[in-house]
Amino acid sequence: QKGPYEHYMLKEIHEQPLTLRNTMAGRIDGGNRIVLPEIPLTEQELQRIEKMYIVACGTAYHAGLVGKFAIESLTRIPVEIDIASEFRYRDPIVSDNTLVIVVSQSGETADTIAALQESQRRGAKVLAVTNVAGSTIARQADYVLATKAGPEIAVASTKAYTAQLLAFELLALYFAQTLRTLDDETRSSLVDGIKQLPHQVEKLLANADEIKWFAESILDRRSVFFIGRGLDYAVALEASLKLKEISYIHSEAYAAGELKHGSLALVEEGTPVIALVTHQQLFEKTVSNIKEAKARGARVMGVTVDGNVELLDSVDEACFIPRTHQLFAPILAVVPMQLLSYYTSLALGNDIDKPRNLAKSVTVE
Ligand code: F6R
Repeated sequence: QKGPYEHYMLKEIHEQPLTLRNTMAGRIDGGNRIVLPEIPLTEQELQRIEKMYIVACGTAYHAGLVGKFAIESLTRIPVEIDIASEFRYRDPIVSDNTLVIVVSQSGETADTIAALQESQRRGAKVLAVTNVAGSTIARQADYVLATKAGPEIAVASTKAYTAQLLAFELLALYFAQTLRTLDDETRSSLVDGIKQLPHQVEKLLANADEIKWFAESILDRRSVFFIGRGLDYAVALEASLKLKEISYIHSEAYAAGELKHGSLALVEEGTPVIALVTHQQLFEKTVSNIKEAKARGARVMGVTVDGNVELLDSVDEACFIPRTHQLFAPILAVVPMQLLSYYTSLALGNDIDKPRNLAKSVTVE
C-alpha cells in the first residue's frame, strides 16, 4: 500500500496535490463561486452570528489558527480559537448567536467531541471539518464540511492538515460570498489562486531532496526554533509539532517579535532557527528578528516566496515556495517543513509512522 514510498508519512506528503484537488472538487463553479450545499446557512442566519469559535486539538488546532485568520479577514466576523481540552472548562461564552467550528481528522477525538456537545448544549450550531464521514463528530455536528484527504495512516498528520487549511479557505470565501463582504472580482482572483495550489505543491515536492541537507544539519542539535509572524507563526507552530513528534528533537515555535522578550536567551552559537517569512507586509519585521538571532550565533534557514532573493543576505540557507495569495501561503510553506521533519527522523532511524508514546486517534480526555 505504501507503493514506492518507504513510509506512509512520505506517501501522504506526496499525495497532497491529489488530496487538495479532491477537497476542492465540485466546490467551485464555472463563475468561481464557492458551492457548499452541505452548509445551507442563509445570509440572514450568518448575519445573526456575532462570533465564531474554532475548537480542535494538535495539528487540527493549528489549521484552525489559519482558519481564524481567513474568516476574520474575509468576513470581519470575530473568531475565537481554543484548544478542545481547555474550551469547556472555562465556561466559554457561547450562545445561539455563536457558530462553533470543530476540526478533527479522525472525528473521534474525545476532547473535541466534548467541546461539540458542550457548544450544542449552550444553543450553538456546530460545523465540523472532518476527514472521516460517519465518525462521531460527523454524526453529531449540525453541518459537516468534509476534507477529502483519504485515510491517513501515519500518526503525524500531513495531508489531512493541508486539506483542513483548504477547507477553511473555501469556508471563509463561502461565508464572504453569502454575506457579500467581498466583491466578485476579488473573490474570483482568490479562487484562481486556490486552483493553482495543487500544481504548486507538485512543484515543491519535485524539489523535496533540497531539504535533506538542512535535516542533516539539525540531527545532533538539542533544540530547534521556528519563528514567524501572522500566518507564518501558525505554520511555525505546526512545523515545530511535526519535528518534535517524529524526530524527538526539542523544538519551539515563537511569534518572531516575541523572541527578544525572553526566548532569545536560548539562542547560542549554531542554534538552528527556521524562519518563515512568506508574509510580504511583515517581511522587514521578521528579517530584523532574524538578525537578532543571527547576532547571537544562530544558523538560520529562511522559508520565503519566489523572488524574495534579498532574504539571502540575512540567512544561511533559504527555501523558496511558489508565489500565491497571502492567505494560501501556509498550504505551501508547510510542505518543506513536513519534509524537514521526515528526513530528520529518517536519518535518526526513528519509527516514523508510529512515533513513540503517540496514537493516531486520541479517544481519552
Ligand atoms: C499531529 C497530530 C495530532 C492530531 C490531534 C487531533 O500530527 O496528528 O496533533 O492533529 O490529535 O486529532 P484529530 O484531528 O483526529 O481530532
